[in-house]
This record gives sequence, C-alpha cells and structure tokens, in this order.
Amino acid sequence: MPELQGDDAGQAHFDAVIARDSRIEPTDWMPADYRHALIRQMSQHAHSEIIGMQPEANWITRAPSLKRKAILMAKVQDEAGHGLYLYSATETLGITRDEMTAQLLAGKARYSSIFNYPAVTWADMGAIGWMVDGAAITNQVPLCRASYGPYARAMVRICKEESFHQRQGFEILLELSHGTPGQKAMAQDAVNRWYGPSLMMFGPPDTDSPNSQQSMAWNIKRFSNDELRSRFVGMLAEQAKVLGLELPDPAVRLNPDTGKWEHGPLDWDEFKNVLAGRGPCNAQRMERRRAAHDGGAWVREAAAAYAAKQAARAAQEVA
Ligand SMILES: [Fe+2]
Ligand SMILES: [Fe+2]
Repeated sequence: MPELQGDDAGQAHFDAVIARDSRIEPTDWMPADYRHALIRQMSQHAHSEIIGMQPEANWITRAPSLKRKAILMAKVQDEAGHGLYLYSATETLGITRDEMTAQLLAGKARYSSIFNYPAVTWADMGAIGWMVDGAAITNQVPLCRASYGPYARAMVRICKEESFHQRQGFEILLELSHGTPGQKAMAQDAVNRWYGPSLMMFGPPDTDSPNSQQSMAWNIKRFSNDELRSRFVGMLAEQAKVLGLELPDPAVRLNPDTGKWEHGPLDWDEFKNVLAGRGPCNAQRMERRRAAHDGGAWVREAAAAYAAKQAARAAQEVA
C-alpha cells in the first residue's frame, strides 16, 4: 500500500488520535470543520466568561460585608481569568483575540444566554453561584477530557475555580435560608427565577441539538445535553434539601427505572428569544462591553507601545 501523504496522512493521524482518545495539539493536522467547531465553541465560551462578569460586578459595591465583597471580587476576577485562558487557547487555532473581540462587539458571536438575565437582589449572588456556576461545572468537568489539548488543559484549572464559585453561592443561600423569614423568602425567590434559565444552559433537548452528535464523535463533547441536565437536576435536588429551599418544579424526581433525574417542561421559546437578543439585559450587556472596550483602548495602546520598546531594545542588544 502506498504511504499516505498530505491531507490523507493528516486525516489518518487525526482519526487514530481520536480513536485512542488522545489529544490533538495546535501543530497537528486537523479537519477544517473540527477547527471551526472548536473556534466557535471556545470563543463563545471565552465571551461568556467575560460577559458573565457583569451580573455579579453589579453587586460588588453593595455586598453586605467586607468578607462578602472580597469573595465576590475574587470570583469576578476569576471569570476574567477564565476568559483570558480561553481566548489564548482559541488563538492556537489560528484566530486572533482582536478578531474574536470584533465578532463579539459586532453581535456576530454568541455568549451564554444565561448572562442576559438581571441580578436583582443579593440572593441572586447565591443563586448564580450555586446554579449558574454549578451548571457550568457539570458542563465543564467532561471538557477536561476534550480532544483538543489546549482546551482540555484550560478546563482543568477553570473547573477548580468554578467549584469555589459554586461553594460560595451555596454558602450565601445557606446563610440567607437560615436567616430571617424575609431573607429566606429572598433566597427562595432567587432560586425560583434562576432555576429554568440554569437548566437551559445545557442547550436544547437532544432531539433538537444538531451539532451534538458530531461534537461527540470528535470527543469534544462527552455527554448529551439532556444527560448533563439530568445530572445537574439531581445535584440541585439533593443540595436544596440541605439549603431548606424548594426547587420550583414539582416534576423533579429520580426515575427508579432509568436511574436518571427528571424535570418538568422548560420554556424553550423564552430560550430562543433570549438567544436571539430579546432577553431582559442583552442590550445592556453589549453596551457595557463596548464601553469597557473603548474605555480600555489606552491600556492596549500603552501595552503595545511598551512591547514595541522592549522588542527594539532586545534587538539592539543582539546587534
Ligand atoms: Fe468561569
Ligand atoms: Fe464561575
């Protein structure tokens, strides 16, 4: 048999790496569709981390104590860090951070629709940490084994930080639910509002998720949307008991026949509306991001001028 060359050899190598569940690295040959799917998923993920700073940053100046403020600041800074790891990891696929930022600011790139909901009370900091970061972990732990090396490695560190985020949210709700009746009601109200949107973070039902199968064949995605959603509901149901709070869904149950957690219907029309830009905070989130980008222009210019000066100095020393 003649030796494979060019793309054929590349494809054969790629297929073998995927078949033995190993990692593809930036310098390896990869199919164009694989590269594009990763750029799409990873840049959306990076944008979500950065836009996701906004609902919580909103509460930093109003945190009820110095301790809470310090924790919340650390958490929001972690999210900025997650965005940076992910932008860097995505750049290894041949797109620049400037291009990704331009796509976000032009409204061409998506970010997770969950961040288009408002954080209206302090209890939302608890519900976001417990449910939104909790859903993120459920989604992201399997991504630590994603076939693209830089993505998988970024996820390992991100997941460690996400588990702190989830714990701090749980702890806020625990304290409120054991506080005054008013505080407990505030915690319950936040859980009621974030429940549906957090379940929808896993994406549409499997029957309506066209890209999932290819993504699973490439070992990027390991479990289906519905499978992950079911695991997440199970985690919420058990932890809600400890919190002394109710999930606003009487259909939640562990099906003894399938061993899977089930939940009631979700409002997929709302999901599609928010995704299409008609959520409660879409316009505000994008406006704030654009203002932050414009306001930060001088920092980027200064950093570029400094880097140029350093490079010129280094070149002079060599000469
Ligand atoms: Fe994050
Ligand atoms: Fe987080």
